[in-house]
Amino acid sequence: MRQRVLVTAALPYANGPLHFGHIAGAYLPADCYARFERLQGRDVLYICGSDEYGVAITLSAELAGRTPKEHVDLYHEINQKFFSQLQIHFDHFSRTTTSFHQPIVHAFFQNLYGNGFIEPQDTEQLYSEADHRFLADRYVIGTCPRCGFEEARGDECGKCGASYEATDLKQPRSKLTGASLQKRCTRHWYLRFDRFREKLEAFLASRDWKPNVENFARQYVEDLRPRAITRDLEWGVPVPLAEAKDKVFYVWFDAPIGYISATVEWAAKKATPSAWEEYWLNPETKYVQFIGKDNIPFHAVFFPAMIMGQNRPYKLVDDLVANEFYNLEGKQFSKSDGWTIDLDLFFEHFSADQIRYVLAANAPETADSEFTWKDFQQRCNGELVGKFGNLINRVLVFIQTHGEGCRPSVAVKEEFDLQFEKDCLRLMSEIEQNYQGYRLRKVASLVMELAQLGNAYFDQKAPWKDVKDPARHDRMKTTLALCLEAIKYLALASSALMPDTAQKIWQMLGGEGSLADLNWKKVLEAKFITPKLQPPQLLFQRVEDDIIAIQVKRLKHMQETACAVQAPPYLPLKPQITIDQFQQVDLRVATILEVEKVPKSKKLLKLYVDLGFEKRTVVSGISLHYTPEQLVGKKVILVANLKPSTLMGVESQGMVLAGLHDDKLEVITVVDLPGGAEVS
Ligand code: MF3
Ligand code: ZN
Repeated sequence: MRQRVLVTAALPYANGPLHFGHIAGAYLPADCYARFERLQGRDVLYICGSDEYGVAITLSAELAGRTPKEHVDLYHEINQKFFSQLQIHFDHFSRTTTSFHQPIVHAFFQNLYGNGFIEPQDTEQLYSEADHRFLADRYVIGTCPRCGFEEARGDECGKCGASYEATDLKQPRSKLTGASLQKRCTRHWYLRFDRFREKLEAFLASRDWKPNVENFARQYVEDLRPRAITRDLEWGVPVPLAEAKDKVFYVWFDAPIGYISATVEWAAKKATPSAWEEYWLNPETKYVQFIGKDNIPFHAVFFPAMIMGQNRPYKLVDDLVANEFYNLEGKQFSKSDGWTIDLDLFFEHFSADQIRYVLAANAPETADSEFTWKDFQQRCNGELVGKFGNLINRVLVFIQTHGEGCRPSVAVKEEFDLQFEKDCLRLMSEIEQNYQGYRLRKVASLVMELAQLGNAYFDQKAPWKDVKDPARHDRMKTTLALCLEAIKYLALASSALMPDTAQKIWQMLGGEGSLADLNWKKVLEAKFITPKLQPPQLLFQRVEDDIIAIQVKRLKHMQETACAVQAPPYLPLKPQITIDQFQQVDLRVATILEVEKVPKSKKLLKLYVDLGFEKRTVVSGISLHYTPEQLVGKKVILVANLKPSTLMGVESQGMVLAGLHDDKLEVITVVDLPGGAEVS
């Protein structure tokens, strides 16, 4: 029986375009691993799909003026195209809105429910009468319960950083319509994750994961609590309970089940409907998940617990490969800030293999790492062209020119040749181990090492000298034959990493069919029988300075324009007034004599001011910006003929002028003028 290997990569949200950060973190490492295992002769299934539910998607869809379905259809397509441009090859790329998904999610829930792991609980949440629906935190804004900031978000205050429940906000309102919201009681269903503690501990103890993944997972297991797995939302998998008609599942409950439903769909599409069971229900299958580090708790703890509560023996993950973050030139990729790479432009100039190699060489395996244009250019030119391509090109060109493209065979071997063969095989075995251990960075550097080994060998043996002396032709043939052997290794070693390039090399060597369909061990040992080599073709384009300059300039420009859009908005000017109208306002200099806080108010201060000819009490909303001590003695400008008004029980006889920009407030002051002086 061939060993079965199930490979999944985190289902990307169909909520925006993916970028190279995602690719480097999960999809490329998974793709290379799947391709490698296939070369090893294992029965591999690489499954992925779009994650299409959740409140983040309804929110973005609404803001973009689309229905959620239109929104996910769009990004499902866009992301699928991106994967295929990068030669990320899934056996099946599904989506959580397929008809296969819902029944399996329901079965998961029913099992957990039937086994006593689900309990209802009543909570208060914010309801919009206008929209006839409960609003999730992300849809809510209101006044911060701590600092009084009026535009505070549903989960935390953008101004003072306080975090709270949306129900704690004062004057909560809908982010979309501004409609005011009321607290209402609603019932939700909780999954008792706490009841899986022992099983989860045993499960984690039986796995050998990278320390970052393991430690993170352990912390979660120590602090397991029941969690709501239902939401008051219309977009999602409906909850199959009569009492829960208007509820859907929380997206992190349904999404990981998508790994299973995608496999079920794959089996159905190839007309062997039960084939999925061999991957999901067979304990002999090896299951490897690739994710970004922000997804660790869901994959290491929550999804395993959901599986432990099932009546069917679904596979628990064997290896969980979680990478760190991958940035762009020192900052996170961000579409809204323009901090991105234009992909259409990218694929106009560069190939999938160039970016696959560079992402692998910098993969964020043990620490965050980044893409820079300079590094991209250096690796493409210095490594792919200068080392890898160079070896293949110089050897094949030499054979075309001096041997009419005929395959030379080994005649005599010197000690140096034997050592070269040994070194090549040692590198090949290291490359194998590193693919197996998900260390793509190391694979990329070993592949280059192999190319350099070949270059050094070719230089040392200098066949261009031997060719001039017929007595040394046998020696030259050995050199060329061993170089061809090394080039074959290079094709094999890079087949999972740079599949197009590896296939091109394979064809130049006269190899038949698709290298990806062959077996690692057999290719390693194979002797070619075709006597003729194909003329060499170009493997990698040089990356020219001007193209890099365009990309860097574009990045800068994008960022500048995005900044301009995001700059704090200036209010439009008010309608014009006449000088007469303005002169009706009586402005006077006022010296602040005393200041005290207005009881129970966060914003208001009571000022006692001197206008020279009289003293007054004024209430001013500047407490968040000034302490009383800072104000005493200052000479400010007062609107002196404003009708008195009462604020928090204190009568205010005028208004102090202040300027406001962004979140900064500054009281207008004068230095030399005495109290009572007229201002106009
Ligand atoms: N959509 C999630 C993300 O992009 C990943 C979901 S993984 C799954 O962060 F397991 F839930 F499918
Ligand atoms: Zn606040």
